[in-house]
Amino acid sequence: MRTQVGIIGAGPAGLLLSHLLHLRGISSVVLEKRSRDYVERRVRAGVLEQGTVDTLIEAGVGERLLREGLPHHGIELRYDGERHRIAFEKLVPGRAITVYGQQEVVKDLIAARLEAGGDIRFEVEDVAAHSLEDRPYLTFGGERLDCDVIAGCDGFHGVSRPSIPPGVLKTYERDYPFAWLGVLAEVAPSSEELIYARTERGFALHSMRSPTISRFYLQVPPDADVAEWPDERIWAELRTRLETVPGFALTTGAIIEKSVTPMRGFVTEPMQHGRLYLAGDAAHIVPPTGAKGLNLAVADVRVLTEALTAFFHDGSTGALDGYSAACLKRVWRAQHFSWWMTTLLHTFDSDDAYGRRLQLSYLDYVTSSEAAATTLAENYVGLPW
Ligand code: APR
Ligand code: PHB
Repeated sequence: MRTQVGIIGAGPAGLLLSHLLHLRGISSVVLEKRSRDYVERRVRAGVLEQGTVDTLIEAGVGERLLREGLPHHGIELRYDGERHRIAFEKLVPGRAITVYGQQEVVKDLIAARLEAGGDIRFEVEDVAAHSLEDRPYLTFGGERLDCDVIAGCDGFHGVSRPSIPPGVLKTYERDYPFAWLGVLAEVAPSSEELIYARTERGFALHSMRSPTISRFYLQVPPDADVAEWPDERIWAELRTRLETVPGFALTTGAIIEKSVTPMRGFVTEPMQHGRLYLAGDAAHIVPPTGAKGLNLAVADVRVLTEALTAFFHDGSTGALDGYSAACLKRVWRAQHFSWWMTTLLHTFDSDDAYGRRLQLSYLDYVTSSEAAATTLAENYVGLPW
């Protein structure tokens, strides 16, 4: 079997790449170890930058997103008994974000690929990448796929990054001393906008998926287990951390999903070796506080699509050679912003009373200085694409 681009992973990165390449007349095969049902149900992030929305619309997969996505023109920072709105329409006029679940993006992309006759293999076993420097090929479940280029879109725990010989990559990593407990609930959001709440008991985030589904996160210890978090405990903790301002009451409902996600920053440099190109979580991870993970994956894929188009249409390798360098500036900006938002809003056991006062003072600065609030807003909605 032969294709131009062998893609490992049917997350947003792999699926979008396959679809954008198809629109340029470039063939690909996507190899995914999980089932279609699994990847379509996996609950992940849900904040799309304008550049991500534009990319999906241009790719012809924005119809449901435009219909069901929720445009947001601000977020709330809540701390010390007060609420403060970061007003995008004032600070970054004309720019906003759209709340639309990642698994909805995945569903839309799979439907578009299959409708166009795309080749996605689900539940494939033992995917491995070989001969990365010349005539690369993939093997899986006893089959062989020859390709000109391999795209490693298989997330943080995938096989593509470890297939690069030792010593080639330099990795940068920071583990945070806490995790997020993510909760999906069948209840109308208690707020029109996202609430990022900093309390002495830890961080809480109120987000949403639709007018009838709410999404919440709680800062929890790094080794937390969902078994320790029965529904009543989750609601009690969300109340304690969110009902801190006058007039706000949290509406509760049926919890339909919960999971614990570790918090980590990670970057690999370069994001390529030979004919293997890494995109999305395979190359970098951000803590989710800045809502950048999915948007970075889409940004990588856009750069890679342009480079592959130049390669397959004109035989030029310049853009492919510069792929990693072209992506890493945005990747590092997002790393910094995500680290900044995380340290601004979480409680660190290592912080003494002095450290906590510094954090509150910085929050006061961000919410009272237009320059500081603009820094937050322009990074949150996404720097220009
Ligand atoms: N063989 C085949 N597929 C694999 C393998 C493997 N060995 N290992 C992982 N995969 C698949 C996973 O099952 C998953 O479907 O690769 C896919 C990777 O998808 P994601 O983890 O969603 O990563 P990506 O497409 O880069 O999406 C960007 O950023 O912040 C996050 O939540 C955001 O998940 C999103 C990510
Ligand atoms: C989400 O809705 O899943 C979400 C929102 C904002 C974040 C992270 C996750 O910062």
